[in-house]
Amino acid sequence: MQVIITANASAAAAHAADIVERTLAELEAPVFGLATGSTPVALYQALIERHRHQGLSFARLTTFNLDEYVGLPPGHPQSYRHFMQRELFDHVDIDPANTFLPDGTGDPLEAGSAYEALIEDHGGIDLQVLGIGRNGHIGFNEPTSSLGSRTRVKTLTRDTLKANARFFAPDEFQPSLALTMGIATILEARSILLIATGEAKAEAVARCVEGPLSALVPASALQLHPKVTVIVDPAAAERLELRDYYEFAAAHQRQLHRATPGETP
Ligand code: PGA
Repeated sequence: MQVIITANASAAAAHAADIVERTLAELEAPVFGLATGSTPVALYQALIERHRHQGLSFARLTTFNLDEYVGLPPGHPQSYRHFMQRELFDHVDIDPANTFLPDGTGDPLEAGSAYEALIEDHGGIDLQVLGIGRNGHIGFNEPTSSLGSRTRVKTLTRDTLKANARFFAPDEFQPSLALTMGIATILEARSILLIATGEAKAEAVARCVEGPLSALVPASALQLHPKVTVIVDPAAAERLELRDYYEFAAAHQRQLHRATPGETP
C-alpha cells in the first residue's frame, strides 16, 4: 500500500481529486467505484469545483456505488442514490444513465448477482474510492464478512447504525439491511483509493494498513491488493506504527517513480 499523510483533511481531498482527475484523463471509458458517507463529500466538492472552474469532464465516466439500503427507493432522501445525486451527480456532466447503485427495492437476493453482472458487463472497475468505518468496514462489509464475498445483503452492526443515525430524523425509519459489494468484488478493482480523516478513524486505519489480515477488520483485506493508495490526515494517521517510514518514502517518491503504483516505494 502507498500511505500518504496530508497536512489536513482538505489536502487529503485535493490529493484524492488529483488521482481521480489523472485516472479520468488516462482512460477512454473509465469506470469508477464510488462511496457514500461523510468522508468522500470533500472529494466530491473538489471534483465539482474542478468541473466548474477547470473544465474537468465526467462525460465518459461510468460509476458503480458500493452499497444501498434495502427498502429505500431511489427518491428517498436517505437513499444512497439520493446522496450521490445531491453530493456529485447533479453538479457535473455525468450521464445519469451511466451511474449505478445496487437496487434496494426489488428482490435483494437477485439484486446482488445482477449488480455483479452489470459491473462485469462494463469491464470491471478501474478505480474504487473507499471510506472506512470505525469498525474497519469497507462498503457495508461489516466485521466477519467473508474475504471472498460478492455483492449481497448484510445486516449492519449496532455501531454502524449508531454512526449513521445522524443522517436520519429521530422518528424516521433507518434500515438495518443493506446491499453491498463484497470484499472480493472490491478487490477486483484495478486500483483502490481509501480516504480516512479524523481521529475516530485512527485505530481502523492502523488495523487496515498494519494489522493482521482478518475478517474482523474487513479493510485489512486491502493488503492483498497490489495497487492501493491510502490517503489520511494527521489525526487518522495517529496510530500508524510506521508513520515515519511512510513520510520518508513519500519524500523520496519522485526519485523512485518506478515503484509499483499504489505501493509505498
Ligand atoms: P464516514 O463513513 O465517511 O461517514 O465516516 C465511512 C464508512 O462507514 O465507510
